[in-house]
Amino acid sequence: MFVQEIKTPFIKIKVRDHKKNKKELLKLIKKTTDLILIKKDSKVSNSDWHIEDNNKKLYLNSFLTLLKPEFEEYLDYFKSDKFEIQNIWFHSYKKDDHYAWHTHPRANFTNIYYLDLPNKKDKTEIKDLNGDIIKFDVEEGDLITFPAFIVHRSPPTKNKKTTIVFNSSIYTD
Ligand SMILES: [Fe+2]
Repeated sequence: MFVQEIKTPFIKIKVRDHKKNKKELLKLIKKTTDLILIKKDSKVSNSDWHIEDNNKKLYLNSFLTLLKPEFEEYLDYFKSDKFEIQNIWFHSYKKDDHYAWHTHPRANFTNIYYLDLPNKKDKTEIKDLNGDIIKFDVEEGDLITFPAFIVHRSPPTKNKKTTIVFNSSIYTD
């Protein structure tokens, strides 16, 4: 097998009006559901991962409206006009919650909006294809995007935190 590596983007955008978004989206997330997510080697105290019907995700319409400028920035970068969100969910972690190493199937990109992140150290851990941890800084209000085949996890959190995660595809016909 011959492999030639090509560069892929790791994008970070500071979301405009984050404080206002946080208030509104957390309120809608609270109304959406309150169910614990337990999978092999993972525990998230509150998540709507199990809800397949997007109409039941009460924060979704506001999320799409509030983050429109950020999505336009992506499209500019990719020189594309087609951007689809395949699925979206939130994770609210409490102290010691964690999510095991995984990738996201059936999408081009994994996206994480750090909606509530009191401690920057509780960020996602991401590994490159050599298994080395990728170094990056992130703070509350950041939206990060990286290829969906890249392995990542949420190590045991020291504080509470809430993220909105979505799978997206950017493409050109
Ligand atoms: Fe993930």
